[in-house]
Amino acid sequence: MATVQMKVRPEDLSRVPQGNERIPEPGILVIFGASGDLTKRKLLPALFHLRQNNLLPQQFAIVGVARRPLGDEFAQDMKQGVIEFGGADASDPVLADFVNHISYFPLNFDDASHYAALDKELDRIAKEKGIGGDRLFYLATAPEYFTQIVENLGAQGMAQPANGRAAVVIEKPFGHDLDSARELNHRVNAVFHENQVFRIDHYLGKETVQNLLVFRFANGIFEPVWNRNYIDHVQITAAETLGVEGRGPFYEKAGALRDVVQNHVMQLLSLVAAEPPSSFDADSVRREKLKVWRAIPPIPILNTVRGQYGPGMINGQRVIGYRDEERVSPESGTETFAAVRLEIENWRWAGVPFYLRAGKRLKKRATEISIQFKQPPLLIFNRMMSGGGPCSEIQPNLLTIRIQPDEGIALRFGAKVPTSPEMSVCPVYMDFDYSTAFGTSSANGYERLLLDAMLGDQTLFAHRDGVEITWALYTPILEAWAAKKPEVFPNYFAGSWGPECADHLLEKEGRTWRNDLGRKA
Ligand code: BG6
Repeated sequence: MATVQMKVRPEDLSRVPQGNERIPEPGILVIFGASGDLTKRKLLPALFHLRQNNLLPQQFAIVGVARRPLGDEFAQDMKQGVIEFGGADASDPVLADFVNHISYFPLNFDDASHYAALDKELDRIAKEKGIGGDRLFYLATAPEYFTQIVENLGAQGMAQPANGRAAVVIEKPFGHDLDSARELNHRVNAVFHENQVFRIDHYLGKETVQNLLVFRFANGIFEPVWNRNYIDHVQITAAETLGVEGRGPFYEKAGALRDVVQNHVMQLLSLVAAEPPSSFDADSVRREKLKVWRAIPPIPILNTVRGQYGPGMINGQRVIGYRDEERVSPESGTETFAAVRLEIENWRWAGVPFYLRAGKRLKKRATEISIQFKQPPLLIFNRMMSGGGPCSEIQPNLLTIRIQPDEGIALRFGAKVPTSPEMSVCPVYMDFDYSTAFGTSSANGYERLLLDAMLGDQTLFAHRDGVEITWALYTPILEAWAAKKPEVFPNYFAGSWGPECADHLLEKEGRTWRNDLGRKA
């Protein structure tokens, strides 16, 4: 494959201003549901990296809260998590110091008196460490506890403290349909003002997702062609090779549409399609994203596909089918793959189809956006070619944005094959790879998001209206699917690209899914 890599010149990198990062005010981070996996695998390693990079204030405290009666062993367990999942060195003095900032408080989520005790404990810690009254409550519990915790914090006066700022971070799933999302928003906003609510979608913390805005709006050459006059269609794929990884009971109730499409994929779509915001602040960016979602007409059920994996091979290993996974019904009708075709009815995008798909146990792990441009108006070189062969087809320009893994951007264009006496055209790629160019791998999304939540910056968090609009789009599909059991499940092999009916979704319009995902250089 003919490719050219793109590099960052050291002299350009050296001109990027350093050391002007914002550091949050001293405060306490309280993590509810701290005995769960997320805290140990993602949150604490992310906080440690912030500490390593001097992005946490000198005075800070992390208080884990959960029902289990734990003591000092909590901090030790978190230390192990930072070593195992955050790559920390066990003898690093920064780690030893970091662990000193961690403590644990046992609490029953439904017991109001426990919140009074927690409040006192937080005051004590604040006094001891010289921290003011700022507190960030992170809800990493199962979703059924969200309202209980929020309402108890409210009743205890902890949501609107007299001597500092309070905010709440809420993990997904934010509702399971439109009604439940509205109810949750309503109850959360009865306690916390919307500007105190940080709804996490960890995709928004990924460097490549943030780079989408930079790519579009810090570069003048793409904007003029970023519309229906030049773009044929857009594909967004979120493909995983993993199965449900022991999360059977959760996944049985969720499925791919709820788990990934309604949130992560729709966030990607909004960043591809949004108009330029007037500035990069939370209100402006989130307003433009809302406008995109509002412009999507109801998605006809005919433009949706669901699938479920059966047994198959992933990376040379035999794997079981979804229905054989632990704590999954042997007759399960839950989809592990979902695809939809939608349109955005606005001036920029009218008539351009957006094809979205997400699935588990697919052939390759890859989250990618591909923008396929229209063919040139006249294919003069095709006419001159005689023999055919692999390079004889003129392929349209394609811009691919790799969200993960191998984060980067590639542009495909046609070039003349040097030795050919005829004007044979071969597709070649310009490929920009984040880690090769910058020499670092991109951070786990939680680092950025935790920092922003501590700083009170909501740009990369979901707004209540966005959550409701996206649920409004997908709830009718979920209801239609629930009303009619799928005829043939499982309908794709683990290790394939999903069910055949997903191919028909594009084939009936003369297009195909891009399955050659990944790096080109
Ligand atoms: C989570 C879903 O939100 O995103 C998981 O609940 C999914 O099922 C995960 O595996 C994918 O995240 P990432 O960052 O690995 O693409």
